[in-house]
Amino acid sequence: MPPDDVSGRHLTPDAADSGEPPTVLLLSGPNLNLLGTRQPEIYGSATLADHVRTATDTAESLGLSVEAVATNAEAEAVEAIHRARGRNRAIVVNPGAFTHYSWALHDALAAFEGPVIELHLSNPDAREPWRRTSVVAPVATGTIAGFGGDGYRLAIAAVARLLDLG
Ligand code: DQA
Repeated sequence: MPPDDVSGRHLTPDAADSGEPPTVLLLSGPNLNLLGTRQPEIYGSATLADHVRTATDTAESLGLSVEAVATNAEAEAVEAIHRARGRNRAIVVNPGAFTHYSWALHDALAAFEGPVIELHLSNPDAREPWRRTSVVAPVATGTIAGFGGDGYRLAIAAVARLLDLG
């Protein structure tokens, strides 16, 4: 059985059944809660709340909705991905530093049935050598990196295309 949400409303895996827009999990990993003040020369001055708003507004314009989860903890990120199974139609994930070593995130994403967009504000390939490995990329449908906050718009637009909505 699919999980219930906090309101106790029963959720179906297929939004077409409920008449509600398909939902996208927007998952943000460690240190992204500091956006706005964290190394603005690399990550910009927008906050995570600003990026969530960009994603939400873009989603609404394309017939989607966004559920945002932000966590600094690997276990919580894994559990958010588990909850997405049968609940969310796609995942947009900025895994932060988990990108580079979390095989637990890799395995959780591999068990998700829908499209997965890996998203980075910066372009990790143009930075320190250790950032050039992504253990998420092999289980992602595609990666958007290096476009700053515009990446959130691009990622949701990519989801809409992959779900045949836009
Ligand atoms: C990041 C890039 C990662 O290498 C880094 O650890 C982050 C942010 C980005 O959005 O550019 O925390 O994912």
